[in-house]
Amino acid sequence: LVALNQKHVLWFRQSHAKMAEEAKKLAAYSAVDNHVQNNQVVGVGSGSTIVFAVDRLAERVRQEKLNIVCVPTSFQARQLILQHSLTLSDLDRHPELDVAIDGADEVDTELTLIKGGGGCLTQEKIVAGCAKHFVVIADYRKDSKVLGQQWKKGVPIEVIPMAYVPVSRMIVKKFGGEASLRMAVSKAGPVVTDNSNFILDWKFEQAQDWTEVNTAIKMIPGVVETGLFVNMAERAYFGMEDGSVQVRD
Ligand code: 5RP
Repeated sequence: LVALNQKHVLWFRQSHAKMAEEAKKLAAYSAVDNHVQNNQVVGVGSGSTIVFAVDRLAERVRQEKLNIVCVPTSFQARQLILQHSLTLSDLDRHPELDVAIDGADEVDTELTLIKGGGGCLTQEKIVAGCAKHFVVIADYRKDSKVLGQQWKKGVPIEVIPMAYVPVSRMIVKKFGGEASLRMAVSKAGPVVTDNSNFILDWKFEQAQDWTEVNTAIKMIPGVVETGLFVNMAERAYFGMEDGSVQVRD
């Protein structure tokens, strides 16, 4: 009976994971199809959902012979662009983007986001800030009424390594909760970002005024950037469990 139950749990997990992957793909394809046109500069986000967006982008570039320039938000995004033989650029050459497409860890009803689950929040925010339109792609598990409902790991905050202890103390003193240094899966040391910094994950206790919190945290010496994206996203595409796509503006 125990073996049967374990098999059942495994089957359930696998089919759930498959559904989520399908949902990511739906959201990513919708965003690329609705927002990317010929002769555009496109910001390419980071994470697992963006992989589907780059697949679709490369397919459209090939089929429709589009002239698209891509600006990456991380080492991962850069590799994706190169692997798909897309045109790679940067903010020196293209400081103004037509559209940036990126995933999110959580999206609330106001389109406030928690990002940085993969540790790429700083470059993601810079690229999104340079884009005329910033579009989010996510599966149904990221959709939330209030931040903290779905994503339980807290707000990622990129910090200068020497400052991680004082910064975490100041955040907890001012806003409560708990801040912990993100460790590598091997536990051999901290996660190091593409900018050679550390990540703090701040688990907050209750919903807050995110504009105020974002501004206050950014004022702490040693903070590079927060994973709170307030008033940046213009639209979110959610791939749903039933195979539909929901749009939030
Ligand atoms: C990386 C990010 C990602 O966009 C975010 O974590 C979502 O990732 P995924 O698409 O794998 O769910 O912010 O820093």
